[in-house]
Amino acid sequence: MPDASPRTFPPTFRWGAATAAYQVEGAVHEGGRGPSIWDTFSHTPGRTLRGDTGDVAVDHYHRWREDVALLRELGLDTYRLSISWPRVQPGGRGELNPAGVRFYRDLLTELRGAGIRPVVTLYHWDLPQELEDAGGWAERRTAHAFADYARAIAVELGDLVELWVTLNEPWCTAFLGHASGVHAPGRTEPGAALAAAHHLNLAHGLATRAIREELGDRAQVSIALNLHVTRAADPERAADLEAAHEIDLLGNHVFLGPLLDGTYPVELTRMTSRHTDWSFVRPGDLTQIRQRIDVLGVNYYSTSYVRRARPGLAGGLSGGHGDGAASPWVGADAVEFLPPRGPLTAMGWNVEPDGLYELLTALDNAYEGLPLMVMENGAAYDDEVTAQGEVHDAERTRYLYEHLDAVARAVADGADVRGYLVWSLLDNFEWAWGYTKRFGIVRVDYATQQRTPKDSARWYAEVVRTRTLTP
Ligand code: NOJ
Repeated sequence: MPDASPRTFPPTFRWGAATAAYQVEGAVHEGGRGPSIWDTFSHTPGRTLRGDTGDVAVDHYHRWREDVALLRELGLDTYRLSISWPRVQPGGRGELNPAGVRFYRDLLTELRGAGIRPVVTLYHWDLPQELEDAGGWAERRTAHAFADYARAIAVELGDLVELWVTLNEPWCTAFLGHASGVHAPGRTEPGAALAAAHHLNLAHGLATRAIREELGDRAQVSIALNLHVTRAADPERAADLEAAHEIDLLGNHVFLGPLLDGTYPVELTRMTSRHTDWSFVRPGDLTQIRQRIDVLGVNYYSTSYVRRARPGLAGGLSGGHGDGAASPWVGADAVEFLPPRGPLTAMGWNVEPDGLYELLTALDNAYEGLPLMVMENGAAYDDEVTAQGEVHDAERTRYLYEHLDAVARAVADGADVRGYLVWSLLDNFEWAWGYTKRFGIVRVDYATQQRTPKDSARWYAEVVRTRTLTP
């Protein structure tokens, strides 16, 4: 629990906020942009709540100057954005689209001019549709296409980018996209999900190499993982501990293994053998994947509690990712997720800041000397706007306070955490949930596109200014 004394952060600690292209840009038919799997998915009836799409989103494509001014006004020193692959390379291969590249050059230049350091994600889920039509992430050649795209963008924008993030939350792409099907491309094929996970790992490794080949060692490279903090419902029950361990393998080590240890855990391959023989892992792949990373991006929101399903009960519940859908937990057939217990955010996710502390310290212990950065943390709440047009989002402020306190505790205990980025700068398109869930510290009125900093943004700006967290 937070104690009563103020906490300070190292002078080099980076403070920022994050967004992603499809969630904020809109302008899906402008500037030569090609279609992505999220265009297709969101336009397919029944895939997103109320049929919401990213067609307009928060019109960041036209309002980026205003949004950079907002970042500056809040005093943030870092901004994490993503590049829309189909905007810069409409079919996912071949020539770049100059108008798309120019959009990001202008944006990055404006950020630099405002003294804001850009963290650039190369893949935040918007695969060019043409690549999906050729098999998508279940196919090995998508990893090579990604590395070619990363190389081309490194050449074009390398002078402006401070830190590259190859992939955002590959777990979601692989398992929500290909097993439970609640994300694009909406497939429900367990074997394809595991193949996708491997090809995403390979894509990361190949892209990391390509970026360094083009930019040399000055290029800083990272990957952002949504690592799962999973607890046994009954920590005294061996079967529940085992269930939690299985989720740890399927949610975390499927990426951490090849990225940092150079191998997939044997238990993981055994657990999933009903779905695949893993022959998509070719000789040499594990060496390609295990490239030095400069920092590991950690996206954290909540924890889950699991137990070994009792015989006769349905196991493998989806754990908050789309109830009623197929399970994303390929191979964990007898694992049951408990309904989350309060306090809950508007996503129905439980609030447990200690999970972030534990995650950061566990990573620090497991991978000595590996710098970490919280690349996403934040909460959706049902904000209300007062008659004066203000948003008094005390719950979000409390959430951010408690999680920053957890980061400070991890730093005090020796974890090398380099920064913290709030998800999100702006209310935006929350994937299958459409615009019904608001994560922004800045309110967006979707009818007028007007931006209004919420109380949480003002509070965060003060923390950033003083580099101090006061209870
Ligand atoms: C993870 C994703 O990276 C981001 O796109 C999403 O909006 C947030 N978490 C909240 O769900």
